[in-house]
Amino acid sequence: MDINEHKNILVTCAPGLNDYLGAELEALQCKVVSSHPGGVVTRASFIDCMKLNLSLRTAYSVLYLLREFRCGSPEALYKQISTIPWEKIIDPGEHLCVISQVDTWSVNNTMYPNLKVKDAIVDRIQRKRGRRPDSGPERTGVVVNLFWKNDRAWLYLNTSGFKLSDRNYRKMPHHAPLRETLAAAVIMATGYDGSCEMVLPMCGSGTLAIEAALIAMNKPAGILRSDFGFIHTKLHDEQLWKTIRNDIRKSIHKDKPVRRIIATDNDELAIQAARQNARTAGVEHLIEFNVCDFADTEIPPGEGIILMNPEYGQRLGDLDQLENLYKRIGDFFKQKCADYTGYLFTGNKQLAGKVGLKTSARLPFFNGNIECRLLKYQLYPGSRRP
Ligand SMILES: C[S@@+](CC[C@H](N)C(=O)[O-])C[C@H]1O[C@@H](n2cnc3c(N)ncnc32)[C@H](O)[C@@H]1O
Repeated sequence: MDINEHKNILVTCAPGLNDYLGAELEALQCKVVSSHPGGVVTRASFIDCMKLNLSLRTAYSVLYLLREFRCGSPEALYKQISTIPWEKIIDPGEHLCVISQVDTWSVNNTMYPNLKVKDAIVDRIQRKRGRRPDSGPERTGVVVNLFWKNDRAWLYLNTSGFKLSDRNYRKMPHHAPLRETLAAAVIMATGYDGSCEMVLPMCGSGTLAIEAALIAMNKPAGILRSDFGFIHTKLHDEQLWKTIRNDIRKSIHKDKPVRRIIATDNDELAIQAARQNARTAGVEHLIEFNVCDFADTEIPPGEGIILMNPEYGQRLGDLDQLENLYKRIGDFFKQKCADYTGYLFTGNKQLAGKVGLKTSARLPFFNGNIECRLLKYQLYPGSRRP
């Protein structure tokens, strides 16, 4: 297999993040071929996949297309997959994980195709190498993804392995943390690039603050990870990987002045967790942490962004108390944050209404299966209520 050959790459993401992911891919010179709520297709080489795994902030997995074919039965699936030279991709000593998404009339039991893919791969390696790899659901070795829809099937090598949202910095999650990929997309949606102040009251375990600092420094999201799916394949070239990592490291703006990032929470344990997570991510020096009520957060003079992610009643918090909290957020925005652009990330429309300020944009997101909005408020002295 030629690791320089350009193939279709499916980069998956959480539902609705595909526009942010598409923008990231374009910025990395990867043209968007098509975009769907759960992913974006681009064209790139296996080597490019290594770079994408390091750099992408909003992606879950980078999938490298091995074969696309017509498929009418599990037997046809087995036959097609048996013709791929697996002995050149997977060492018999490696662990194999197969992930399937099946929506076809050809099978009743959606686990059966998964078994067929696994059998086709390990049987071929047994024939060619005299030994078969272990297999199971853990993504600790080589990961292969099957998509089978009606009579078409796509088989991908999952170059990420574990999801890229697992950045490895969140050692202390605390309550209701946002997934790192979602937090990165929210920061991207505010247009933040480190050139203005960023204030994050109610920061919880610090995910938004850390993703903001990583963006401000141009520090790749995957730089803390040492494990990726591609490392376990026989296509992996350690020397090349070291060079790619070193080149990407050089693009980190270590000395670029970043304006203040202020993160506060009224829960001391949350701030402890956030500080520890920021330290692990190597951005603690960029974030000023403080324990206080959100309304006592310091707002540096001038223009900046203030972003809050209060509880919204689905998982934490009591609704009556939350109504009062949202009303107080509106007052705080209006009275203390003039000249800033305010953002509120919430999954509760009714509570959002209690803020009582006019929104200038309402950007849709999903937090798990909860429909959320990032509400934007253009604040100025005496921001009016509608
Ligand atoms: C939904 S969590 C934020 C999660 C965060 N985005 C993350 O990814 O970890 C809301 C946070 O608001 C904090 N909070 C609630 N009421 C507050 C108040 N009056 N002042 C400051 N923080 C408050 C809670 O302690 C909690 O950490």
